[in-house]
Order: sequence, then C-alpha cells, then structure tokens
Amino acid sequence: MTDKPTAARLAILISGAGSNMVAIAQACRDGRIPAQVAVVISDQPAAGGLQRARDLGLPVAVVDAAGYRREGRLDRSHFEAELETQIRAHGADMVILAGFMRILSAPFVARHPGRMLNIHPSLLPLYPGLDTHSCVLAAGDPEHGVTVHFVTAELDGGPAIIQARVPVLPADDVAKLSARVHAAEHIIYPMAIQWLASGRLQWNDGRPTLDGSALAAPVRHV
Ligand code: GAR
Repeated sequence: MTDKPTAARLAILISGAGSNMVAIAQACRDGRIPAQVAVVISDQPAAGGLQRARDLGLPVAVVDAAGYRREGRLDRSHFEAELETQIRAHGADMVILAGFMRILSAPFVARHPGRMLNIHPSLLPLYPGLDTHSCVLAAGDPEHGVTVHFVTAELDGGPAIIQARVPVLPADDVAKLSARVHAAEHIIYPMAIQWLASGRLQWNDGRPTLDGSALAAPVRHV
C-alpha cells in the first residue's frame, strides 16, 4: 500500500487587498491546486485582505508590524519569530508572499528553502522594489508584466518561475496598468503554486526544474 501524498498547506502572507490570496484560495477550493490554505497572515491589522479571508472561512492571523517597533525601527528578529510561530502553529509547509510588503531576512528565508514563493509586479530583473507601475510609465516602456519567483535572500532576486506580459497603452495611468497586471497575476500565481504543490516544480538546492528539465528561464505565459 502506498501512502497518499499529503496536500501542501499554504501560509499566505499579505499586507493589502489580498486579491492574489483570493485567487489562490479559490484555486485550492476548486481543486486546481492540490493544497489547502492553512492560514492567511497579515502584518497590517487593517489589511482589506483579512476580511476577504474571513469571508472565505480561512484561518487568519495578524502579526502587527507596528507592535514590533523599537526606537523607530522594526525589531525584525522578534517580528519574524512570531511570523514563524504562526506558520508552524497552523501546520503550514509552504509560504506564499502575496503582496506582503516586508523584506524577510536571510535566516527566515533559509528556513523555507524552495518552499517560499513571491509575486512581483514587473518583468524581473527589470524594476525590483517598489512603485513598478510608475517606473514603467515614466520610462515609456511598451510592455510591463509580472513574475512569480522563488524567494531567496536577494530582494526580488530568486529564480524566476513564470512571467506574463501585458501591453502598456497610451491612456494608461497607474490604476489602469495595475488592474491589467493584477488580472495576469491571478492567472499565473495559482499556476506556479500548482506546479510546486504537485511536485512538477522542484527546487534542487537552487537549481529549479519543471517536469524534470532545468528551468533556465521563466516560463512565458503570454
Ligand atoms: C500585487 O500586485 C503584487 O504583485 C504586489 O502587491 C500587489 C498585491 O495585490 N507585490 C509586490 O509589490 C511585492 N514587491 P493584492 O493584495 O491585491 O494581492
């Protein structure tokens, strides 16, 4: 008799509206991702995504970054220790950053090798960091996009898994461009998580493979 593989348990970390979290939770629910959402954790008590998670009946936890400020700075080690406690307490074995607007330390990242993903609203390596939509508009780029990548200690620098491109249109402003990027995010993030949770995507000490072949460049969705 063979053991049935245990479904992955996701800790989804958010700071804001949580639209990616909703897309992922729905994909888990309808069986597109062989995983369940173990907990949704926010560093912001007012994050809109917390109520969306509660409305979906998902467990939620708040690790309020403001409560970990010492002399005007985030006490990162205590903040991250509480994050880790919540992840473990809910039995999560995969960490999904979905609009989580905090940099995580190298020791925290090292505790989840190949089990932590992030979505970033640009065609990495273009525009790491913040305000990517404004940067793209200011540069006059004809296209923009989104990347799902493994998280490593390098900010927005881990191996990229999948990218989607969107056009930049003449009448675009940040809101219009962001909406177009979000629509692409809601397609490719569940895909990447499905690959990892099903074992199609493997980490191999930082040399990812998809279906047994080296992932030398991200899959190009569109
Ligand atoms: C998304 O556009 C995501 O790519 C971005 O935050 C937004 C969250 O939206 N993440 C980053 O900028 C990380 N550097 P959501 O809360 O509606 O999912």
